[in-house]
Amino acid sequence: MLHWNVIKTKTPEEAGKLAADQFEAVLRAKPACVIGLATGSTPLPLYRELIAREQRGELDFSRVRSANLDEYKGLAPDHPQSYRRFMQENLFDHISIRPENTIVPDGLAEDVDAMCRAYERRIEDWGGVDIQLLGIGHDGHIGFNEPCDDFPAWTHEVALTEMTRRANQRFFASLDEVPTAAFTMGIGTVMAAKKIVMMVTGKDKAEILYKAFCGPVTPKVPASILQFHPDVTLICDEAAATLLPGK
Ligand code: GLP
Repeated sequence: MLHWNVIKTKTPEEAGKLAADQFEAVLRAKPACVIGLATGSTPLPLYRELIAREQRGELDFSRVRSANLDEYKGLAPDHPQSYRRFMQENLFDHISIRPENTIVPDGLAEDVDAMCRAYERRIEDWGGVDIQLLGIGHDGHIGFNEPCDDFPAWTHEVALTEMTRRANQRFFASLDEVPTAAFTMGIGTVMAAKKIVMMVTGKDKAEILYKAFCGPVTPKVPASILQFHPDVTLICDEAAATLLPGK
């Protein structure tokens, strides 16, 4: 059933501005809100826009807390391809958010269960995620929740599929350098967010967007679970929306 709020845009830049509007509304209502953040190419226009809005004095991140979806297993925070580094370079270093108020799973965790439990507890202590940003992988993954036989509930370790590793190879020197595992918020963590904003741009995402949006809810397409979330806003460009009905 199509009950998501769908916003279609012409360009990825416009998608970034419209996604920024969603974050701005939450930040204005709750200056100490908890935002869930994502990596990948798709959110970059949003991050540029959020930076610009704070520089213009329209937004204030000084009381905001943020939790990222995922991190590669085995990468140190300062590794050029780590998601912590991505967030520093593309957002955190340019806004007033306090470093201690940003969390990303620890890629070097030795006690994985303890790290995952502590990650969940931190989000819970903060009162839960007010607005969660998501992209989508070509196989329907959200965060790094890959297609599987059930919906993993909470933050956990996951083996990355060949498709995901190849899709992310563009950031590494070779496929061999792409980690084979990651830590990710679970589907339960994502579904617990009060509001979800999913950004999808590019024609290579049209087919998986259709499956997630209009197909059966199945852990084989992890993003399809969002059909059960009461507050999802999908922001997509025309290229990604081509297969959506009535769009
Ligand atoms: C990675 C991230 C996801 C992201 C996906 C798509 O696998 N773990 O959170 O949604 O890539 O990235 P892109 O936006 O670059 O297509």
